[in-house]
Amino acid sequence: MSGRFEGRRALVTGAASGIGAATAALFRREGAEVVAFDIQPAEDVLPLDVTDFAATREAVAAAGPFDVVANVAGMVRMGHVGEVPLEVWQKHLDLNLTAPFVISQAALPGLLERKGNIVNVASIAGLRGQAYSAAYNASKAGLVMLTKSMAVELAKQGVRVNCVCPGQVNTPLVEGVAKSFPEGIDWKLIERQMNLLPGGSAPEEVAEAIAFLASDAGRSFTGEALTIDGGATA
Ligand code: NAI
Repeated sequence: MSGRFEGRRALVTGAASGIGAATAALFRREGAEVVAFDIQPAEDVLPLDVTDFAATREAVAAAGPFDVVANVAGMVRMGHVGEVPLEVWQKHLDLNLTAPFVISQAALPGLLERKGNIVNVASIAGLRGQAYSAAYNASKAGLVMLTKSMAVELAKQGVRVNCVCPGQVNTPLVEGVAKSFPEGIDWKLIERQMNLLPGGSAPEEVAEAIAFLASDAGRSFTGEALTIDGGATA
């Protein structure tokens, strides 16, 4: 079967669950050789804690070169901004922002050689304020700007860098969010982040958006923060 990623090598993090698993599966179906990493065990997924930056740098360099890098692993914990422990703040920055930076840097020599591209999974929380998730907001906004900065710097060398900004996607992450809502929240502030289209998105739909940006059809996209949010930010 021929596909959009025939003969290409792709790296996917967070590949044991949700959007990462759907992305790795789609890339594989479309012909890519996928190197998948996750902290949780799963079939065809190599164990790696991407916040162990030295190990991550080494694993990515050893597994490369890559045509496509999809930084998908991420986390969110809700909490009142006045009560967020420093270690929770730091965990968000490490996983959602610094890990994609470390991985992109380690993959860069191969991406330059192959005129490859990076797709980061940010969030609509990277584009506008979201209550009770200051650390998540800040980490995802940082990821949007890491995307744009790298896109501007690397365009002339033929490397594209984009991100997707999902709204509400039906994955275990969202179930975790629902469990981490703190006491005494204003639900109106939560509702403004919800997709307007009913039902939320499936992880496979986000994988399709990632694959589009990563494919040759996305050739003119770089520095893009593509919302896939059922109209939430429209
Ligand atoms: P998920 O919880 O289903 O998948 C996240 C994966 O990341 C898990 O397999 C987890 O084991 C892995 N992971 C966590 N810490 C790790 C670490 N230290 N090293 C390696 N892997 C690690 O969540 P989902 O929803 O698929 O999330 C994927 C990305 O999409 C995240 O970056 C998230 O912020 C983003 N996102 C999700 C939305 C949603 O509504 N589900 C909305 C907007 C963005």
